[in-house]
This record gives sequence, structure tokens and C-alpha cells, in this order.
Amino acid sequence: MHQDIAYVLLEHDQITTRVRELAQQIDRDYADVDELLLVGVLKGSIMFIVDLARSLQRHVALDFIAISSYGQATETSGVVRVLKDLETDISGRHVVIVEDIVDSGLTLAYLRANLQRRNPASLRICALLDKPERRTADVVIDYLGFHIPNEFVVGYGLDYAERYRNLPYIGVLRPEVYRGR
Ligand code: IMP
Repeated sequence: MHQDIAYVLLEHDQITTRVRELAQQIDRDYADVDELLLVGVLKGSIMFIVDLARSLQRHVALDFIAISSYGQATETSGVVRVLKDLETDISGRHVVIVEDIVDSGLTLAYLRANLQRRNPASLRICALLDKPERRTADVVIDYLGFHIPNEFVVGYGLDYAERYRNLPYIGVLRPEVYRGR
């Protein structure tokens, strides 16, 4: 285990098994749909979207969006900025937003509304992790990997200051790591 990690919350095998289950669920729900468009929210969802896509049986197209919140003051109002938009016209497409973690839910609430305005045939949300204690926005997660406690986690795509994304597991970061910076 990495020295900056207090403990491992989810082992790689647990994650892999759950991601396969989510893919099976999605495959069943979209049995009549020829092609799904997975929209990954950069950068935290990268490992998740790749593993999910590999486990899906149907045709899958991938696109990515990058967003950033304006900081604490505006986070509460849900004001988010699009840093990199989709390359795909999603009108008439079956879209699944793939997100790493839902915390307050403001990011996803914004994203959902933003993509809904582009008239997709359907729009659902798939998130690997949910910290329900911190929720302030009303978002429905259609496909969820795991509920987790209110701890700051890294690994499997999730970062702190761009580090730890490459850890194969999801672990709780030692508080002294972010206090020490
Ligand atoms: P929300 O808008 O408050 O739901 O924030 C969601 C975003 O915050 C996620 O996409 C992550 O980028 C980031 N985030 C929230 N909690 C964590 C965490 O524990 N580790 C790493 N990133 C997190």
C-alpha cells in the first residue's frame, strides 16, 4: 500500500467485480438500443469508463467533458464551467454520464441539465462512488457502484492535486498529506 494512504476502502478486485455487474445491468436495460454513448467526466472517471466500456456487450461510443466548479462560494449555487465540451452531437442518442464520485451532487446536477438541453433520446447517470452524507443537490444516480463514508478518497482515477490516480485500489488519503501542503 502507498505510504500516503491511511487504509484501502475498495480493493481492485472488488471494483472490477462491481463494474462488471453495472455493465450487465446497463446491457439489460438497453437491450433494445443499438449503440450507447458513454460520456466520461474528466479526469476522475477515466479508469472507470474504460473498464465499464470493456465490459459492455453492445456498441459503445465514448466522449468526454471536462468541467470545473468556480470555487466554494459559487459551488453552493451549482455554477460550473465547461473546460472541454463534447465532440459529439448527442441529440437523439442514448447517453450515460459516467462520473467517478458524487459528493454534493452539484456537478452532476449541472451536467445533467446541460446535456438534457441538447435533446438526447435518453440520459442516465452512472457513478462509481456516492457520498450521500454530503448531498445538497437532488440527483438520481441510475447506476451506482458503492456508497462510501464521508472521507477523502483517491485511486482508480481519483486524485488529490493530480496524484494517486494510478493506484489500482481506492483508499482514504492520510489527512497529513493535504494538511502538509
Ligand atoms: P460534487 O459536485 O460536490 O458532487 O463534486 C464531485 C466532484 O468532486 C467529483 O467529480 C470529484 O472530482 C471531486 N471529489 C469529491 N469527493 C472526492 C474525493 O473524495 N476524492 C477525490 N475527488 C473528490
